[in-house]
Amino acid sequence: MNDRAFLSESIRLSNTDFRRLSTFIYDTFGIYLPEKKHYLLQNRLLSRLQKLGYTSFSDYADFVLKQGEHGDEAFAMMDAVSTNKTEFFREKKHFEFLKKELLPHYFGQYIKVWSAGCSSGEEVYSLAMLLNEEKQAGHISNFVVYGNDISKNILEKAVKAIYPYRAVASIPPEYRKKYLLRSRNKDNQTIRIVPELRAKTNFVWENLVGNRDTIPTGLQFVFCRNTLIYFDKETQNKVVSRLLKHLAPKGYLILGHSESLINNMPKGLKMVYPTVYQKET
Ligand SMILES: C[S@@+](CC[C@H](N)C(=O)[O-])C[C@H]1O[C@@H](n2cnc3c(N)ncnc32)[C@H](O)[C@@H]1O
Repeated sequence: MNDRAFLSESIRLSNTDFRRLSTFIYDTFGIYLPEKKHYLLQNRLLSRLQKLGYTSFSDYADFVLKQGEHGDEAFAMMDAVSTNKTEFFREKKHFEFLKKELLPHYFGQYIKVWSAGCSSGEEVYSLAMLLNEEKQAGHISNFVVYGNDISKNILEKAVKAIYPYRAVASIPPEYRKKYLLRSRNKDNQTIRIVPELRAKTNFVWENLVGNRDTIPTGLQFVFCRNTLIYFDKETQNKVVSRLLKHLAPKGYLILGHSESLINNMPKGLKMVYPTVYQKET
């Protein structure tokens, strides 16, 4: 066993430090880590400890908590802890529903969409591809897609818009030629979203449970998919009310396929399709 492996074998996250760190993560980012996530937290944070040269979680927890919620380590820790899984046209039924059922209500309009918890941008660019097609077909006049996330690393990737070649698999073939540039490097094949589409997007670093709130209001659509699942009920309620404030009357909130508000429906919202909700006024 090498020194690094030996070190990681011997470092354990105690119950006390698990509680200190998970409480800090909850208070700062809203992400709820129940006791069953103890080992997940330990494993995901080990690389941070090793990078910084700490040999105990207790010292690492002191360091993070001392820096506080605005400290660099709070964000580095979140980068290690958060789940950023995403892909182009993920849960593709939503895109079909948007095109066929929702967008026709907005004929000729300027469409503003927010992808809340956008990860590395695949959802934002999928929406931009679809909306650009609608614009070229003369169905909408123009559009912009906003994206936010708490992870600074992941947002940098979103802005760069460079993805491994395998990511094209979920992009409809008719969009690939139009919206993707292919790298010439044969050893490391990547794709990049074309500049015309990148220009229609706007990424901001914003914590959905924080005070910074810069996304415009009056949006027709808010996509918040596969993000609410990391929050407890109380935080979900707060985040949903925040999202609703940004929606125009009659605007739509779209959640992930495994997320539902059915048992916890906020006032002024009605379900129009599973996981698709409309603001009433
Ligand atoms: C699993 S990804 C979902 C990405 C995309 N919406 C999708 O469905 O494919 C969840 C994202 O939410 C972000 N996130 C978690 N808590 C957040 C918070 N408090 N504020 C902003 N973003 C957050 C994570 O960093 C992560 O990138």
